[in-house]
Amino acid sequence: MENIYPIFERVQSRTDKERQLQQRSVVLWFTGLSGSGKSTLALALEQRLSAEGFLCHILDGDNVRSGINRDLGFSDAERRENIRRIAEVCRMFVDAGIITLASFLSPSEELRTMARGIIGKDDFVEIYLSTPIEECERRDVKGLYRKARCGVITDFTGVDSPFEPPHAPQLIINTEERDVEECVDDVMQYIRPRITLK
Ligand code: ADX
Repeated sequence: MENIYPIFERVQSRTDKERQLQQRSVVLWFTGLSGSGKSTLALALEQRLSAEGFLCHILDGDNVRSGINRDLGFSDAERRENIRRIAEVCRMFVDAGIITLASFLSPSEELRTMARGIIGKDDFVEIYLSTPIEECERRDVKGLYRKARCGVITDFTGVDSPFEPPHAPQLIINTEERDVEECVDDVMQYIRPRITLK
């Protein structure tokens, strides 16, 4: 049937939006254990990107698990649905020309492969926060490792639920060896050519 409302011919394309924003959009997908530094790095990166004139937005547990995904817990099926919805939202952000920083455990290769498939491999940069569990647990920023060790929380990633490191991430960041600004430097060096409009 003929489409009598051809709105797609009138809406701005992704390229139009990228030109307006003077940037190329991409999803930076941060994966790693709880306490590995994903959110800290994403926040510092947001500041740096903004200072350099790039528009970005962070998606993390704070704004996703308390809102769109507040019906989801931490079973395998719920984590899968969590990541599926997040990847769909990332897709929309990237189509809007926005550099998107997604900071989620995404603890298995299967979940990250799904996210990559939804977002598209050319728009998906996988960044692995390889901070060892001993260090994450020592930091225990949210007190969750302690609760998991004494059984108050179950299925906690790294304690009684697995974390599978990525096989071939584009970047590996170990926050034990470098401070936050150095980590930001590493990411910026990698992504600058990718986000700069020629
Ligand atoms: S994911 O596995 O579905 O990707 P997500 O990144 O959204 O997880 O949420 C992880 C955050 O939820 C952790 O940083 C932690 O603060 C909190 N959390 C609460 N319960 C758990 C649990 N059982 N396993 C992992 N994280 C948990």
